[in-house]
Amino acid sequence: MPEFEPTLLARVGKPDSQSLETYRRDGGYQGLKKALEMAPIDVVTLVKDSGLRGRGGAGFPTGLKWTFLPKDNPGPIYLAINADESEPATFNNRILMEDDPHQVLEGIAISCYAIRSKTAYLYLRYEYGRSYRMLKKAVEECYAAGIFGKNIFGSGFDLDVVLHRGAAAYICGEETGLIESLEGKRAWPRIKPPFPAIEGLFRKPTIVNNIETMACVKQILDRGSAWFKSMGVPPDPKNPRDAGSYGPKLYCISGHVNRPGCVELPMGITARQLIDEHGGGVWKGRQAKAVVPGGISMGFLSASELDTPLDFNGPGKVGCLGLGTAAITVIDDQTSMVDVLFNCARFFAHESCGQCTPCREGTAWMHKILARIRMGQGQLRDLDLLTEVAASMGIIPGTTICGLSDGAAWPIKNAIKKFRPEFEEYINTGRKTVKPSEALMAAHWLRWNTWHHESPPPQK
Ligand SMILES: Cc1cc2nc3c(=O)[nH]c(=O)nc-3n(C[C@H](O)[C@H](O)[C@H](O)COP(=O)(O)O)c2cc1C
Ligand code: SF4
Repeated sequence: MPEFEPTLLARVGKPDSQSLETYRRDGGYQGLKKALEMAPIDVVTLVKDSGLRGRGGAGFPTGLKWTFLPKDNPGPIYLAINADESEPATFNNRILMEDDPHQVLEGIAISCYAIRSKTAYLYLRYEYGRSYRMLKKAVEECYAAGIFGKNIFGSGFDLDVVLHRGAAAYICGEETGLIESLEGKRAWPRIKPPFPAIEGLFRKPTIVNNIETMACVKQILDRGSAWFKSMGVPPDPKNPRDAGSYGPKLYCISGHVNRPGCVELPMGITARQLIDEHGGGVWKGRQAKAVVPGGISMGFLSASELDTPLDFNGPGKVGCLGLGTAAITVIDDQTSMVDVLFNCARFFAHESCGQCTPCREGTAWMHKILARIRMGQGQLRDLDLLTEVAASMGIIPGTTICGLSDGAAWPIKNAIKKFRPEFEEYINTGRKTVKPSEALMAAHWLRWNTWHHESPPPQK
C-alpha cells in the first residue's frame, strides 16, 4: 500500500503558510477556477460522488445535504460555516484556520458556487483570537485580489464572506443554535423540521457545514472524487444506514499520551494505532484505562476496545454514540473514572441551554449525583438512578430539541456500563477524591446549579 501523504495538513508548518502569496505558489485557488468553469450542479455531483461526510460530528453526507435546498429558489441562499469547535479536546478546525486559512476559504467559495449562495457567514468560536486574525487577514487578501467580491475571475459569480465571532457557548455549535446566534439572538436551538436547508438563517435556505468539510471540498476539486474515495472504509453491509467513511481525516490526540497533537490519516485508523504510533504511547509507561473516541459526548472505549476502527460506523459498534469530532482523549489506569465522569457531567450541566426539561433537569441531576458520590456520600442505587436519568433524555428517546442532551447522557451510560465495578468499589469504600478546596467548589456548584436550573431562562 503506498505511503499516505497528508493533503489537508500539507501546508501546515511551512513558512508563511497563511499568506495568499504562498498559497497561490502551492497551486491555491485552482480548484475554485475549475469549479467556476463547471455548472453548479456538477460540483454538487462531484462532491456527492466522493462520498464526503460532514466532519462536524454528525457525519451527514455533504453533497446529499446540498441537494435538500429547494430547487429554483429565488434566494438568497446562505452558507453558514460552523467554526464553533467547542467539543472538549477538539482542535482540528483551529489548526486549519490558523495555519492554512486560504484552504478553508477556497473550500467555502467552491461550496457557495455549488449551492448558488452569494454570502457565506463564518461563525467562529469566540475564544479563537488567533484564528480570527488569520482569517481576517486572509479574507482581506481575497477581496484585494478579486477572489471575493463581484464577478470572481470574470465568471459572473459574486461572493461575500463575513466573519462572525461566536457567543462563547457549546450550544452555539448546534446548527440551529448557531443560526439563532448569527441572527443576534440567544443560541437556543430550533425545533426541526423545518431543517435549515429549507428555512435557516434569516428564514432563508441555509447550508451549515464544518471547517474541515470545507477543506475536504477544496481537495476534492483539486484531486477528484475517485482520489477521495480511494481512502477510508466502505459501507458496512450489516448496517444499511452506513454510507461509508471516505477520505482523509484529522484526528486530535490528547490526554495521557506522550505526544499530543493533530494528525491526518485515512479514515478507519484504530484508537490503538493513534495512541501508539502517533501519540507516542500512554505517558509514564502506564496503560490506557479508557479512551474518548471523538469528544466527550461520544462516550468511552474501554481498554479492550482500542482496536475499534475510528470511522463513522466503528465506535457505534461498541456502544459509543459515534465518531463525533474524531478527537481522542486517553485516560490512564491511575485516573478515577468517577472523577472523569464528574467532569463530563459538570460540563454538560453548565452548557445545557435550558429549553427542554429533560436536558435542563437531567444534566443538573447527573452533575449533583456525581458530586455527591465524589464527596463520599454516594449509594449503590445512585448508579441505576444515573442510568435511568440518562436513558430518558435526548433526541434518541425523543424528549429534547437538540443532540446536546444525547451527548450529555452518553458518557454516563457508557461509563456506568463499562466501568461499573470501579464505581461500586468507590461507593462501597466511602472513598472521596475531592480535596477540601474542591469540596467547597462542588458545594458552590451544587448551589449555583440549583438556582440556575430552577429559574427558567426568561422568555423573549
Ligand atoms: C450540542 C451540539 C454542538 C455542536 N457543535 C458543533 C461544532 O462546534 N462544530 C461543528 O462543526 N458542528 C457542531 N455540531 C454539529 C452541527 O449541528 C452540524 O451537524 C454540523 O456543523 C454540520 O456540518 P457538517 O455537515 O459539515 O459536519 C454540534 C451539534 C450539537 C448537537
Ligand atoms: S436538548 Fe438541551 S441544549 Fe438542546 S435545546 Fe434542549 S435544553 Fe437546549
